[in-house]
Amino acid sequence: MEMADAYPYIIVGNVGGGWKFAGQFLPWIRDKISGKKPDMRVICVEPAACPSLTKGPYAWDYGDAIGLAPILKMYMLGHRFVPPPVHAGGLRYHGMAPIICHLYKLGLVEAKAVHQIDAFEAGVRFARAEGIIPAPESCHNIKVAIDEALRCKEAGESRTILIALSGHGHFDLAAYDEYLSGRLQDYEYPEELVKKALADLPKMD
Ligand SMILES: Cc1ncc(COP(=O)(O)O)c(C=O)c1O
Repeated sequence: MEMADAYPYIIVGNVGGGWKFAGQFLPWIRDKISGKKPDMRVICVEPAACPSLTKGPYAWDYGDAIGLAPILKMYMLGHRFVPPPVHAGGLRYHGMAPIICHLYKLGLVEAKAVHQIDAFEAGVRFARAEGIIPAPESCHNIKVAIDEALRCKEAGESRTILIALSGHGHFDLAAYDEYLSGRLQDYEYPEELVKKALADLPKMD
């Protein structure tokens, strides 16, 4: 950002477990907390198929699938969460980094869920414009960055949007092939499964 002589107005990143995006936005968030940049927005983007922040409860759960790791307070889908078989990309961890959950609870970061067909559509658009094939994970935040850029354009605002291109998609061409041949399907994680996961949480009393 310094090299570009810019300051981000919106920071958008994908979140699986959230560790990578936390590393990207945490250096900036103190300017929002201190009041230096109160309007700055931080947007976490997750798949609609694995929506821990946007659909999960904020509760204590194991960090691992078999229940041996220490418990953490997270927005989560339950440690027994298994991603649906139609989900093509990564971003499959059942919980979210506790520091992101805390900032989300305080309203300092936002969260959006994106369907995979929209994500791949944005990824192809990005590849055509930039000559880089983004990883499916990155396609999720590229989709939201495009939406935000179009919203700014409509409002006549010139804003700096900082995205995370967290990886290339050279090992994900099968998923791009599924998208381009119309075989990719969207999947909305059902509320019943969120409720069911609550029954498996570690007992706290
Ligand atoms: C390319 C890519 N981007 C983003 C992520 C998500 O990272 P995190 O789990 O730190 O949110 C992953 C995780 O596997 C990844 O492979």
